[in-house]
Order: sequence, then C-alpha cells, then structure tokens
Amino acid sequence: MSDTGLCDLAVVGLGVMGGNLARNFASRGLRVAGYQRTVEHAHALAAAHPEAHLRVASSLAELVGMLERPRRIVLMVNAGPAVDSVLDQLDPLLEDGDIVVDGGNSLYTDTDRRVARAEARPWRFVGMGVSGGAEGALLGPSIMPGGDRYAWERLRHPLEAIAARSPSGVCVTYCGRGSAGHFVKMVHNGIEYGDMQLIAEVASLMREGMGWPWGQVADTFAGWNRGELESYLIEITADILRAPDPQNPGALLIDAILDRAGQKGTGKWTVVAAAEHGVPIPTIAAAVDARLLSAAKDLRERAEAALRPSRGVVQGVSPDDLRDALYAAKIASYTQGFALLQAASEARDYGTNLAEIARIWTGGCIIRAAFLERIRASFAPASRPSGPEGSERPELLVLAPDFAADVARRLPGWRRVVAAAAAAGHPIPGLAASLAWFDTLTRSRGSASLIQAQRDYFGSHTYERVDAPGVFVHTEWPRSSQ
Ligand code: 6PG
Repeated sequence: MSDTGLCDLAVVGLGVMGGNLARNFASRGLRVAGYQRTVEHAHALAAAHPEAHLRVASSLAELVGMLERPRRIVLMVNAGPAVDSVLDQLDPLLEDGDIVVDGGNSLYTDTDRRVARAEARPWRFVGMGVSGGAEGALLGPSIMPGGDRYAWERLRHPLEAIAARSPSGVCVTYCGRGSAGHFVKMVHNGIEYGDMQLIAEVASLMREGMGWPWGQVADTFAGWNRGELESYLIEITADILRAPDPQNPGALLIDAILDRAGQKGTGKWTVVAAAEHGVPIPTIAAAVDARLLSAAKDLRERAEAALRPSRGVVQGVSPDDLRDALYAAKIASYTQGFALLQAASEARDYGTNLAEIARIWTGGCIIRAAFLERIRASFAPASRPSGPEGSERPELLVLAPDFAADVARRLPGWRRVVAAAAAAGHPIPGLAASLAWFDTLTRSRGSASLIQAQRDYFGSHTYERVDAPGVFVHTEWPRSSQ
C-alpha cells in the first residue's frame, strides 16, 4: 500500500487461479485488493493467507475506491459472458487511464470486441493469457499480455515481478496489438494439446503395442527428460506413470483412469482459427479429434465389438525410434503453431515477435521445454551467425537449419514407428498426421492436380496449367456417360 493507503492493483475473481495470482502479486510486495461475488469466499481466502494482506472489497464500487490511479484491475473470472458482465459493472466506475486486464482463457474474437468497446471509453483494456495452472499462478506463470501499449507499460512492473524466470529471461512480453495476447495463449494451448497427444500415443505404443510395464515406460520418459525432449509435460508423465492407485494397493493409478479426455475449448478454437487463417495444423487438429473420439467411449466399445480389428505386437521399433518419432512430430507441431502465429500477426496486424513468444514459453507455462530456447534462437536474427543467409528469419520453423537437420536425422525412426504402429493396428493419429504433413510439405508436385481436374469437370471451376500458372482455364472434359 502506498502512503495514500491505496492498493497497487486489484484481482476480480478469486478462484484457484485468481486467488493464487493475487497471492503471487502480494508476495512481490504489491498491495492487492480483491473482489469475488461470493464475498465470504474472498474473506476465507484472506484469512487463510494472512501474509498476503489481501484487502477484500464487498462490491466493485468499493474495490475501485481502494485503488491508486490509474487503476489496474485484473479479471480472473470465467471466460465468456462473466467477463462482459464485470466490464458492464466496472464501466461507469472507471476513469481516464484506468486499466482492465482480462487474464482468463478468452476467445480472441471476444477480446477483439472488448478492445473495440474500450476504445470508445476512457479506460483501457488488455487481453492477457496466463499459463502454468494453479501452481504457476502462485509461483510464476508465463504471461501473455496484448492490446493497449500504454496499459502494458503500466502493467509491466507488476507482471515482471510475478512472472516465471528462465535462463532466457522473465517470462512475460508484450504479445502485440488487439487480441494478440489471447491469440498467443490459444495457440499455446493448441500446442499443449499436440504435445499431450503425442506423449500419450508413444506411452500407449510402449505399453499396449510393445508390452512394456508402466515402470519401464516411466523410466524411459524420465531418461528422455534429461535430453533434448526435456520439458514439463515429459517430466510429469514419468511421475504420473509411477503413481500408485490409492484405492487399490499394488496397482497403478493410470490403469484406474477412464480413457475419456475432457476439453474446455481452446484446442478447438486453435483449429478453427487456423482454418480461418488458411494455416494447416494437422498435429493439433489430430489431437482435438483424438480427444473427441476418446470421449465417445460407448461408441468405441460398440465399434470394437462389431468390427473386431486384429491388433498385434509393434515390431521392429527401438526406444530410440520412439524418441525420434516423438521429437520429430513435436518439431512438426511447433512449426504449425508458430506458422499460425505468424499468419495471424500479419492478417490481424498484431505485430507479434515470434522469438519473444518462444522465449516467454521457456518457463512457467505448461509447454515449457528446453527446446523452446532453440526455437527462440531460430526466430531471433541477432542471435544467429551473421551473414546474409544466416540472418533471415526462417519461413517455417522446420526450415531453420538446425531443425531441418534434426528432422532429417530422425526421419527414418519416425517412419518406422508410424509404419509399424499402423501395421499392428495401434492408433497414432498425432504421429501419423505430423508425418503426413511433413511428407506433403516436402513434395513439390503433389496430388492436387486431380482435385483441380475434378472441380473443373463437375463445376467448371477452372484450373491452371503447369506451363501457364496464374492463367485459369476450363476444359470440356470427355464424359463416358451423361
Ligand atoms: C495453462 C493451461 C490451462 C488449462 C487449459 C487446458 O496454460 O495453464 O493450458 O489454460 O489447463 O484450460 O484445458 P483443457 O485441456 O480442459 O482444454
């Protein structure tokens, strides 16, 4: 609290994420006011954590009166109508220069609408992604703010104070204009879906396809976490696969968990946004589809009983092949995610710096990984060897020299895994979609000539000849029947 007795900032919505974020701000010496519709919950939180000196307001009007000007108010309410409802209530209470930050997982088009709304008002709006789950919010998340630049300058100090720190720096950066912060967070989550799917496929291949005990699977992941695959998701996978079932002594918890994946929507949004921006992201799309199919448990049971496909042992695949397949597919997935960020930045005038995004994902967030520092270096011209060729940003991540070499080295193992899994009847939608994407990307003459011919045949949609690109012609196709 300053000499005036006012607080530095406020958090609205004191659920798990909001409560922990408020405590994180307080732990960095900031004076925090809090508001939650169920005021008793806010008081309970303040009482449970006296060290945070959380000042609880019983109304938004009271909250606004507790703050230094320009006011900084961070909303940690459920994405969707709740954000608009709080904005409606705050709007008449706010003054020139006050800043409202939406720190939830909001859909970027909702953020566009709110940015436009704020532009007509005296207060300023920032759409901000926060990653790292409950623990990250408390101890250091990765933070992705976007929108009003003036507001970012005034938020910078408190956000840098609470963000995660990695060897690459403080895990917060200005992600760009408008809804860039929430777009970047959405793509983070899409990549998260891809990573989780690829890991689950490889673990399942080891267990179901190769008959490894879970302990061996866990040990293998733990070993990989000491190499180039080092990442939070690989690390927690090893922990998860060793966890005992508290209700069944001697058994492992993983075997007691129903194979139906939930999803709150950010993966699906990424797929929709990618289609709208004309960027193929098949690894992430496969991950979303796999979750949908996983949820249809009853249907899968009926289909298995009706169709009884043969399923055998995965042959001719080594642990190194599995590691290579996982790593190469991960490069494919991140290439797709960053291509989407690049396309959106251009189409939507975000001005997003890809190297900075990779940097703030090196710590705090769910996809944090050693590998992201290499991605940062690939997108940051200054850090690469000078020279006309070395200093250009790669058109796609996989075309950056070290990633191109990496994929080339891992391609034989990746192919062996996909082929052997398919031959033995084990589903690997993420690994296979990633490889199909790679093979399509790297084939300069593809199969679409026939598609163009078919379109012209049935709909006179025209096509281009290889000897006259850009000139659209129609053919009266010979027809075998009328
Ligand atoms: C994070 C997470 C977080 C959350 C998502 C995932 O970055 O901290 O991505 O945002 O875990 O909501 O949700 P679903 O898997 O339920 O879609």
